[in-house]
Order: sequence, then structure tokens, then C-alpha cells
Amino acid sequence: MVTIRPMANDEWPALVEILAQSFNFPAPGWDSFRARLGDENFRVACDGARIVGGCGIYRMGQVWMGRSVPLAGLAGVGVAPDMRGKGVARTMMTSVLRELRASGTPIAGLYPASWQVYRAAGYELAGERVQWELPLPALAGFRAELPVVQVDPASPEATAALSSRYRPAHGNLDRSPAIWERLGKPHVGSRYAWLVGDDAYVILGHAPADAPHWDIEVFDLHAPTATAGRTILSLLSGHRSLSDKVRWFGSPADALVTLLPEPQVTVAQHQRWMLRLVDFPAALVGRGWPLGAAGELHVDVEDALVPEHAGTWVISVSDGNAVVRPGGRGELKLSARSLGPLYSGYLSATALVAAGLASGPASTLSLADTLFATPTPWMREMY
Ligand SMILES: CC(C)(COP(=O)(O)OP(=O)(O)OC[C@H]1O[C@@H](n2cnc3c(N)ncnc32)[C@H](O)[C@@H]1OP(=O)(O)O)[C@@H](O)C(=O)NCCC(=O)NCCS
Repeated sequence: MVTIRPMANDEWPALVEILAQSFNFPAPGWDSFRARLGDENFRVACDGARIVGGCGIYRMGQVWMGRSVPLAGLAGVGVAPDMRGKGVARTMMTSVLRELRASGTPIAGLYPASWQVYRAAGYELAGERVQWELPLPALAGFRAELPVVQVDPASPEATAALSSRYRPAHGNLDRSPAIWERLGKPHVGSRYAWLVGDDAYVILGHAPADAPHWDIEVFDLHAPTATAGRTILSLLSGHRSLSDKVRWFGSPADALVTLLPEPQVTVAQHQRWMLRLVDFPAALVGRGWPLGAAGELHVDVEDALVPEHAGTWVISVSDGNAVVRPGGRGELKLSARSLGPLYSGYLSATALVAAGLASGPASTLSLADTLFATPTPWMREMY
């Protein structure tokens, strides 16, 4: 029988062998992953004395309508090839879910390589990450409008300056020190960062292209004004003698794209992340809500893996806050998988009905659509 438990320090080599093989990623990179997460955040799946799988947990926050909610970000989920298809991942996901619930973590998220594995544990698609790509000559007309100062993103001083300017949008991470460290100090390649004006910044790296050229990859940027956006585009444009393209990770509805004069921009990568509500009332009460949204929604939740969720609840929203209490009429029927996308605003209640994940009368769907309407949930980084 497969059991799940915290990893002991001397079990790392056995786990990393599975992870290196599962992700085709060499061992040194896993060592920095280990250092960033801390041994206490790894779980291993054991078949008798043999380690047959494992995963790591990033402890961070995720920002929902301006408020950070504690998030467990699952990463490095791997099972030994000869043990796949035998329910190891399913057992591990169920065990981690119960553990997170017991420790009071309200939400869990991940980037799925397969959807079915995580859907079985109640995760569902809840937001996106897009990498935009643009030929650099398209930026030739942009000029710097604000002062720019280069900083070393691996230094603690620069991390402090960059993180003080970071303003997470809906669905963005409330980054842990581990995530900031990974941004400034990747295990391969170099990173370059500039502070732009009083409140903006950009962090980029070089990606190999046809020698002697390289492409510019922007890993993070914050451009709250059009002047800051145009200044960043001008800085990128200055690389065009030896770089052909720039790529940046951002939102599917990206303000930087709107600053461009012509549609030469394309999507180079498009990922979707999943969310699972671990403690449904705590997650709803902990997030922010649109100031104008008000109403009382009566829901009926079905959740085999978190029986504490099951039953009817009343969600009362007003003045940017929610109160959740058991009881009520149970008008909107919600499956466990519907909770993540409803919460993030990725799918409306009406769309969840079309996806076979919810049901209810038209008036209740309309109220739920209004209360849960948010900006597009997105994330810049992968974890
Ligand atoms: C993905 C992985 C973790 C699944 O582990 P596993 O122990 O084989 O999964 P399980 O046997 O517990 O399967 C759980 C469910 O997911 C489904 N599933 C498993 N692997 C799948 C795959 N590759 N594609 C689609 N569905 C899959 C199973 O059918 C099962 O559903 P069911 O019980 O309703 O039939 C494993 O294949 C692996 O390590 N792959 C390489 C690394 C990787 O992709 N990790 C995930 C990164 S997010």
C-alpha cells in the first residue's frame, strides 16, 4: 500500500532521481528548488521502504480583488515511471489536500501537465499565463520618457526595491522570498533589472537564438502608467541590434499590448493554472470583493474529498466583504471542481453550468455572475 508522509532529509536523493527523470531536468536545478522550499515542504509517496513519488509545496499568497489569501502552490509532482497509473498521484493529492485543510490553508493551486490527475482531487482551470512575443523592430518608435536605473536583481537591496514596487493584480502571486529569489537568481542564465521612474520596473534575461543573436525574455515588469510602459518598451527596443524578438509573460488582457501601434504581437506560450478551494468559507471571507457588488447567494456544495464543505451555505456580499454561514435555500448547486473557477472569476456561474459543473435557476445564476465578476485572473510566473 502506498502511504504519503513528510520527506526525511536523507530521502532527497531518492526523490530527486524521480523528479529529474519525470521532468527531464538535471539535478543541480532541483537542489536550488529544495533550498527555496525547505525540506519541511516536501512530501513523499512510499511503497514499503521504497520512495515512489513526491511533491513540493510553495507557501505563498494569491491576490483576489486586492486581498492576499494564503496559497499552497504544488510543484514538482512526480511518480516513478514503473509506478504510474496505479493511483499514487491520486493518493498523494488527497493526502496533501487533507493536510492543507487541517493546517488552515484556504486555497491550493498548481500548473497541470495533465488535467485528469488533478481534477480527480477537485482542482479546475482557474486562470491563465500568456507569453507574448514581438519582433523588436516593431518598437523602434518608442522613446524613454522616465529615468531608468539598472540594479542587480540578485542583491537583497534590489529585491527590496523591486518588491516594494510590485502591485499584484487579480490572481497574481503574493510572492514568497523563494519566488523573488528565483526571479533574480535563476539556476541558469543571468537576469538584468531596471527601476523605471518612481514606481515601475522590468526584469529580463537573454534567451539563445541564432548566434550571435539572442532574444530578450522579460520575466517580470510593473508598468502602472502609459509613460512607464512606453519607457520599458523603449529600453527593450534598444536591444534590437543583436536581438530579434522580445517575449514577456503577462495577462491575456495585457495593457502593454494595447500600447503597441500595430498587431505584430503573437502568443508564444499559453498556460492555464488550476485552483482548489481547501476551506471554502475561509477562502471567500479572506478575499476582496468588488465594492459595488451586494447580494445574498444560497449555494449547495458537493465535495467528496472535503466533506466539511458539503451542504448548504449562504454567501452575503456587501461593502467589499463576504460573510459565509451554513444554511439557506441551496439554490446554486456547486461541485467541488466548480469552486476554483467561480472563486477566481475565470468562469461565470453561467459558464460553469455549460461546463457541467454547476446548476441553478436563471435568477440565481445571474446574481452569482454579478457577485463573482472580476478582472481576468492571470499570473506572470510558473511555480
Ligand atoms: C502525472 C503523474 C504525476 C500521474 O501520476 P500517477 O500516479 O500515474 O497518477 P494516478 O495513477 O494517481 O492517476 C490519477 C488519475 O489521473 C489519470 N492520469 C494519470 N496520468 C495521466 C496522464 N498522463 N494523462 C491523463 N490522465 C492521467 C488517471 O487515469 C487517474 O484517473 P482515474 O483514477 O479516474 O483513472 C505521473 O504520470 C508523472 O509523474 N508524470 C511525469 C511528471 C509529471 O507530468 N508531473 C505532473 C506535473 S504537473
